[in-house]
Amino acid sequence: MAAILEMQGVCAHYGRIQALRDVSLTVGEGEIVTIIGANGAGKSTTLMTICGIVKATSGHVRYQGRPITDVRADLLPAMGLCQVPEGRRIFPRLTVRENLDMGAFFRRDADGIEADLGLVYRLFPVLFERRRQHGGTLSGGEQQMLAIARALMSRPKMLLLDEPSLGLSPMISQHIFRIIRNVNEERGMTILLVEQNANIALKLADRAYVLETGAVVMEDKADRLRENTDIKKAYLGQ
Ligand SMILES: Nc1ncnc2c1ncn2[C@@H]1O[C@H](COP(=O)(O)OP(=O)(O)O)[C@@H](O)[C@H]1O
Ligand SMILES: [Mg+2]
Repeated sequence: MAAILEMQGVCAHYGRIQALRDVSLTVGEGEIVTIIGANGAGKSTTLMTICGIVKATSGHVRYQGRPITDVRADLLPAMGLCQVPEGRRIFPRLTVRENLDMGAFFRRDADGIEADLGLVYRLFPVLFERRRQHGGTLSGGEQQMLAIARALMSRPKMLLLDEPSLGLSPMISQHIFRIIRNVNEERGMTILLVEQNANIALKLADRAYVLETGAVVMEDKADRLRENTDIKKAYLGQ
């Protein structure tokens, strides 16, 4: 399996606080990989370091074999790497449709954009119903759907998702996880998923990394981690 993303020995700091310690991880093309860990473990920092929003103080990040540590974050979607950050940062004063158009701003293939618009409306019918409404008037769950749908409009090869279920009802969370599985299976999209809900994440993912205070302390196939006694105690509430 070819690696689409590799992090090697990555450290990151906020001022004097070290948030990542020598993090190495690999995501294979077509995989769903999850990073689980407690609040403050460094999960979001890992994703932001991949995108260059937080600068690595040492180590390498390679996407499709190419170092991306110095590539501007806003240029990554055009390379097929798209992040949905924590907290659904949609544009509240733009309509749902305009938010979706923003996701495709760098694309020139009008037919492809139209097809993908049809796809995201099929995946999230509520966004079609609300396409003329301002993003800010949507519920939390709908805004999260819009954030994911906007990312899909860039037709990414790889999607980075930071806590997509945070603060959402179990029903909406399930809908969102179904869509993550759907785009992985139907469109071969590679997924790196950060989740505090380890139960759901380990059911969805092929492989997982466990992050504690900025360091990877375990990595394995997701179903093996679900059977691991330490993981059950620490993360699965069993
Ligand atoms: N902007 C920031 N300034 C200073 N420290 C931060 C900042 N963001 C995160 N941290 C610290 O870095 C560590 C990792 O945070 P984060 O990556 O957000 O963890 P997680 O996403 O796993 O909850 C935590 O100790 C957190 O307090
Ligand atoms: Mg976080």
